[in-house]
Amino acid sequence: MFEEREYYNEAPYFSAAFTDSSPIRLNAIGELLNLNPAPLKNARILELGCAYGGNIMPFALHYPDADVVGIDISGVQVNGGNEIAKNIGLTNFKLLEKDILSLNSDDIKMLGKFDYIIAHGLYSWVRDNVKNSILALIKAVLNPNGIAYVSYNVMPGWSIFSLLREYMLFTSKDEKAPGIRLQKAKDELKFLQDYLKTNLQDKLDPTLRDTQKLLLTQLNFLQNITKDNKNDYYIQHEFLETHNDPIYFKDFINKIDKVGLCYLLDSSLDDIFKSQIGVYRFDAHLNKNYKKRVDKEQMLDFMLNRSFRKSLIMHKDILEGVEDFDIDISVNEFAKLNFIADIKKQNNKFYIKDRELNPEYYDIYEKIYSKYPESQNIMDFKEYDLQKALFAFLELMLDLNVGLTTYELKDVKIKNVKLKPKIKEYLKYFYENDNPAILMANELNQKIQLSKDEIQIALKIDAGHELDMSDERVCKVMKILQKNYLLIQK
Ligand SMILES: C[S@@+](CC[C@H](N)C(=O)[O-])C[C@H]1O[C@@H](n2cnc3c(N)ncnc32)[C@H](O)[C@@H]1O
Repeated sequence: MFEEREYYNEAPYFSAAFTDSSPIRLNAIGELLNLNPAPLKNARILELGCAYGGNIMPFALHYPDADVVGIDISGVQVNGGNEIAKNIGLTNFKLLEKDILSLNSDDIKMLGKFDYIIAHGLYSWVRDNVKNSILALIKAVLNPNGIAYVSYNVMPGWSIFSLLREYMLFTSKDEKAPGIRLQKAKDELKFLQDYLKTNLQDKLDPTLRDTQKLLLTQLNFLQNITKDNKNDYYIQHEFLETHNDPIYFKDFINKIDKVGLCYLLDSSLDDIFKSQIGVYRFDAHLNKNYKKRVDKEQMLDFMLNRSFRKSLIMHKDILEGVEDFDIDISVNEFAKLNFIADIKKQNNKFYIKDRELNPEYYDIYEKIYSKYPESQNIMDFKEYDLQKALFAFLELMLDLNVGLTTYELKDVKIKNVKLKPKIKEYLKYFYENDNPAILMANELNQKIQLSKDEIQIALKIDAGHELDMSDERVCKVMKILQKNYLLIQK
């Protein structure tokens, strides 16, 4: 088994961007809950276990007065990320090669305080002493009104994956090189899948058949992820890494409580939107027997078989306590937020991703659809029934792909535009690298889908070329740049 530093130097992690950990979303949630979050303009952001910094770079690009810091133990990733930032010309972005476990009081002093702290894909994947250091560090460097985001694998959803992880670790134990080990584990997954499929055709005793079916369902899911090599980094780190300790939600809450931190809610906002099962007899049972919020959330994890959580946490003395969670969802609260929803319209029906939206709110959705990519505020719907607009927005908010901000995002007319500052250099990185280490993302951390040929077209915008808007490809590129807020008027 490898130690973390060696492991991540040998097999660096593709550094994606995650919408639900974006400081812009954390700030919006803080505003919605009246928590007086720090303004984004001069905010200080820290990411722990940042890899190449792909998750915090989009924010640094769009907020030049903010200060963005990342910490990672892997020199390969830290140096790689700093090199990318240097070539882009970012002066507000710095990755530090440090082991969270061995930060001393001078290091902590030097780091200063932060308004938003992110630890995505880190907590479950390190030794227990590092886990404790992560929480202690958050406590030490989080500003009084700061919001931290910590994601982690949870039980019971991870229990069946733990079994497959043990299987992959066992079958690949004799291979040392990460790449070869991964291939061996993938081959052995196929072997087990083949065996289960064949075996399930025979008459088995019902209990055995049902457990094998369950295992096969999870195996098929994994197989789907592993069939091309795109997700190898994920498989390698979830299933073959030295540490991966899923935890029960209630135990995580106890751990953060011990260091003086308190749970606020999940970044998915499930605590607001999925705090009920929706069937009277189940909800009545939960409400009667699990009155405490943490107990009820834990019950929901059992019932929904959750496998991952993205907890937002704050200082314990700022919140009244984890049980005191009361959210007022009124038009006034909503007016603080702007929504960015890429609604699709097909055969006179509206969809967000693949979810069909409620026909009762179609007039509201028609307006949001026609205004996209401009952000929408509930106050833009004064000519409608505001209560109805509130329900329409609530329905959209359920979807993590819907961006939430505290500021307006304006549309630009495609004529007479140029790229926003530093975007040319950012795009250039992806043009020049066949295997980029970071994900190309917009300020909301949403993936930007541009091929190399399309980037080449985009790069011509600032080179003084007159772009031929009658060319379909040029038009497509301009639209992608427009909907990712990468253009400004000249
Ligand atoms: C699974 S990766 C997650 C990377 C990124 N946050 C993401 O989710 O895409 C975990 C990261 O934590 C870093 N890491 C592990 N142990 C660490 C430690 N003790 N101190 C600092 N970084 C550490 C690794 O080098 C690696 O980049």
